[in-house]
Amino acid sequence: MIGLGMYAPPKTLTNDELEKMVDTSDSWIMERTGIKLRRIAEPRTACSDLCLEASKRALADAGISPSEIDIIVVGTCTPDMPLPSTACFLQMKLGAGRAYALDLNAACSGFLYSLSAADAMIRAGRGKKALVVGGEILSTVTDYTDRNTCILFGDGAGAVVLSECPDGEGVLSCHLHSDGNLWELIYAPGGGTVHPYGPEVAENRMHAIRMAGNETFKQAVTRMVEVSLEALQHNRVDISDVALFLPHQANMRIINAVGKRLGISEGRVFVNLERYGNTSAASVPIALAEAREQGRFAKGDLLLLASFGAGLTWGSALVRM
Ligand code: COA
Repeated sequence: MIGLGMYAPPKTLTNDELEKMVDTSDSWIMERTGIKLRRIAEPRTACSDLCLEASKRALADAGISPSEIDIIVVGTCTPDMPLPSTACFLQMKLGAGRAYALDLNAACSGFLYSLSAADAMIRAGRGKKALVVGGEILSTVTDYTDRNTCILFGDGAGAVVLSECPDGEGVLSCHLHSDGNLWELIYAPGGGTVHPYGPEVAENRMHAIRMAGNETFKQAVTRMVEVSLEALQHNRVDISDVALFLPHQANMRIINAVGKRLGISEGRVFVNLERYGNTSAASVPIALAEAREQGRFAKGDLLLLASFGAGLTWGSALVRM
């Protein structure tokens, strides 16, 4: 990982503001989720606009130009349009003329799935440098009359530049899993082929995310622990070897439960959820960029990344920085 970058729109949505929109309170939201603020994109912002800002920062950090990128993978479940891909818009806006570009939808696991895909493409010789981005404008698929979900989600993007490297450095492993049987725990029914856009979708807010919060919570804890242990066992390393654990930022209680079960001290778990809420595919790369900025890891350190999301999908990666 030779470059990291993140971007979140400046506009905020606070718990106090949410109190005026639905029957909730700052104390309930803080106690049950740990979220204080979310960033919200202005209307008509494209997901690729957020991805562009994060990508520019990651490329500047890597010290390379867009023309050196061979592969662009964007993890998102809130694309600019159904087609073409957000990655193609990003390629155009960046002027990364040499790159081939594709989107990958694994909801909140979108970044780890994209990282795994780009890593495999580089290993297969399909390019030497990849731009891997997680970007979302979840505010466009959030029902601001549903207190169960509207308190959770925010907008943002994070980007990583991957480059060929010797074995034993960079991405050491990726482990991915899905269970489509549990799709009904988190989904947004409208706007696809089953319920194409039309009056039914608009009237019933079917474009927005629906979630069975409690069951999702339990699955998130179990699966993120399992897949994190899978990464450690595969690489024959102990949790004490991990300098920093960067889990998907969905709920403080989920993060605490996962950290406790893994036996990692709070000081080695990265949390920025209070300022962004759940940004889905953007959460892990935003965390990476912020953690580096805060000096939370150094070159050569071992990082453990883990995610969980709709699908269901979950995954982990072990990375030597
Ligand atoms: N403000 C006040 N009360 C609320 C509320 C809100 N924003 N949202 C729900 N409640 C109420 C519920 O209506 C329920 O009331 P009832 O007991 O009278 O029926 C009560 O609080 C408890 O609801 P429950 O859903 O059991 O709460 P919870 O402790 O599970 O917290 C979530 C709800 C959504 C915060 C939590 O389940 C969660 O974070 N789940 C996982 C979310 C997630 O990770 N999603 C994405 C995965 S990528």
